[in-house]
Amino acid sequence: MANVSVVGTGYVGLVTGACFADLGNYVICLDIDQAKIARLQLGHLPIYEPGLEEVVARNLAGGRLRFTTLYEEALAEAQFIFIAVNTPSGPEGEADMSDVRRAAESIGRSLRSPAIVLNKSTMPIGAGDWVAGIIARSLPEPLPFAVVSNPEFLREGSAVHDFFNPDRIVLGSTDPEAAERAAELYKPLKAPIIVTDLRTAEMVKYASNAFLATKISFINEIASICERLGADVKDVALGMGLDKRIGRAFLEAGVGYGGSCFPKDVKALEYMGAVNGCHPQLLRAVIEINRDARRSVLQKVRAELGRLDEKLIGILGLSFKPNTDDVREAPALEIIHLLRTEGARIRVYDPAASARAVEMVRGVEFCAEPYAAAEGAHALVLVTEWNEFKQLDMDRVRRSMAFPLLVDGRNLYDPQEMARLGFIYRGMGRPAPAPEPSRAAIAE
Ligand code: UDX
Repeated sequence: MANVSVVGTGYVGLVTGACFADLGNYVICLDIDQAKIARLQLGHLPIYEPGLEEVVARNLAGGRLRFTTLYEEALAEAQFIFIAVNTPSGPEGEADMSDVRRAAESIGRSLRSPAIVLNKSTMPIGAGDWVAGIIARSLPEPLPFAVVSNPEFLREGSAVHDFFNPDRIVLGSTDPEAAERAAELYKPLKAPIIVTDLRTAEMVKYASNAFLATKISFINEIASICERLGADVKDVALGMGLDKRIGRAFLEAGVGYGGSCFPKDVKALEYMGAVNGCHPQLLRAVIEINRDARRSVLQKVRAELGRLDEKLIGILGLSFKPNTDDVREAPALEIIHLLRTEGARIRVYDPAASARAVEMVRGVEFCAEPYAAAEGAHALVLVTEWNEFKQLDMDRVRRSMAFPLLVDGRNLYDPQEMARLGFIYRGMGRPAPAPEPSRAAIAE
């Protein structure tokens, strides 16, 4: 049992804090957002994360989890202090470390006894030394402390599961004894623990996310070639993935990756390489292919509808992936922007993300259910593969549309079945189903 403090209550900080409390530790989570802390103290979560509400409620009730906005209170008994604040992208792709700087300064000012500070947020290579310097300079008087890089590998929508079932724990520090003490926190999870140096631990995180993003862009490149050569990328991915050296995961072709991690981390790694004399052309290609995947939706719609001004287009899915309400860097936002730039009218539906999206997209009509998004539409674009879209009455959808173009941005539907229902079906990397509905029949 340990005393743990977590600075930052986003999906990483909140999951980390609540789950460490669930392992029997005493945890205080701090955020500078008073309103957020007030809601958390009542057990109201600011994010949609399956399973998290129960973990927070159980540990709030059990007295192992508290929330505060005061650093003095958060650090009073702390043995381990996690920094889990946001590190968004700057204009060049560099990581914006201003929140980390503020957290490190506040930790230094409020630390009253030796502690181990763990960088949980994804930070540029070398940030661990930088954080240690800020803390040291902020201490009112010298105090022993250590900084350990402890990157997170949590996926949004399954973060609680991923915390309790990690593939590995990575710890890096210039102080091996501190890393070993931090490893004790993770022993109950019985996962492989890698103890290395600071920079190497930081690079494991970036390299892991960049590789997963590369797999996605690789299969999207294969998908665009499949489209022109008449192959089906779904079966190509199946055939590839059964090779254990390749693996099935992250070979789903579609409109590409979004979220608060992959886009930011690949850009940050490319930036770090470029400003240190490297020529990260593979990472640049990963970024470009991801952008092209979103643009290919516009090409597919334009190829069938011609000019888009005065056309009505329905969008199914806003979140960057299913089971989350997060729309950060979501492909839907860019696709909507591209379609609106060509004059299309847009109706959107998402089971969870509309409230967050409403302040990020202008001039679109938000629908309360999916059929309304298809009503009278000249095209329907599936962008996020929510389960409920698989259960839709697609015959009803087609009959309600002004023109039966279905662009399946996540290859959710069966092409032959959609053609039988009378859709003009366009997948991502999939051959157009035969027979195509005749345009004459559609016009009747
Ligand atoms: C990712 C990493 O998986 C996680 O380990 C890291 O800690 C944070 O970043 P996350 O961004 O939450 O997690 O989502 P993830 O499930 O990895 O999906 C990322 C994006 O890739 C989503 O937009 C998803 O739609 C897309 N994706 C995923 C594909 O386009 N194809 C795939 O095969 C898999």
